[in-house]
Amino acid sequence: MNSSALEHVEPLAAGGTLADRQAGWTQAEAGIEIPRYLRKHYWAFYGHPLAVRVFERPWLVNLILWGWYRALGNAAVNEMGESLPGQSLQVACVYGDLTERLAERVPEGSRLDVVDVLPAQLANLRAKLKPGAPVRVMRMNSADLQFRDASYDRVLLFFLLHEMPVEVRIKTLSEALRVAKPGAKVVLVEFARPVPWHPLRFLWHPPLWFLEPFAPDLWRNPVETWLPPSHRDRIVSRETFFGGFYQKVVIEA
Ligand SMILES: C[S@@+](CC[C@H](N)C(=O)[O-])C[C@H]1O[C@@H](n2cnc3c(N)ncnc32)[C@H](O)[C@@H]1O
Repeated sequence: MNSSALEHVEPLAAGGTLADRQAGWTQAEAGIEIPRYLRKHYWAFYGHPLAVRVFERPWLVNLILWGWYRALGNAAVNEMGESLPGQSLQVACVYGDLTERLAERVPEGSRLDVVDVLPAQLANLRAKLKPGAPVRVMRMNSADLQFRDASYDRVLLFFLLHEMPVEVRIKTLSEALRVAKPGAKVVLVEFARPVPWHPLRFLWHPPLWFLEPFAPDLWRNPVETWLPPSHRDRIVSRETFFGGFYQKVVIEA
């Protein structure tokens, strides 16, 4: 647990560059480095100034997921709950309207927090949210969340783990479980191991292998592989979609 929990919500004091202040970063947010794997493998998708203009199109995101964006989004949102009282956390921004849909379920007096490490993604999300939406958007590394233990009533990771090297994936899962209240749901929507005859094993896995070098882990291993030992037997539900190509896994914190 980081002792500086929540200090990032304080406004940036003296220090930080002019660009940081103009971006509205707090002191802690300004000091966060962009992980090397993101720069190396995902800059064109998420970090480049043009990335948002290219990829923030529902039809394109849906196409990349072979028409499953809506169904998987529905599965995620419904698993989080019809109403989201208390504090909810979405770890990492997502193209499309997933966060807006979650925000619509947040009752008065409650809040959804979204963290991401890339400025372009945070700015894009802020622009998509309705004015006054009960959402707090913060710059943070998922492997080092600046929240106190047991802060959240539910946590969502939507297609995040397959983009991470193993050590970051392990830390991210352990952080998600740490900040969730005991008994809260941690919901994962991810790639999975498809049935042997699935045509996309031959059609889509090869380009994915090239474009997303850490993704094959998710179609070879169960999620337990990267969970802390304390939570390996705390998977409370597991659902697969599209012949096992995708999965939704719920872990009890
Ligand atoms: C959720 S994932 C993939 C989502 C999916 N492909 C989509 O957009 O529909 C993409 C996000 O994860 C973020 N991300 C990756 N590694 C991260 C980390 N260590 N900490 C915080 N955010 C991270 C990226 O900046 C990006 O915004």
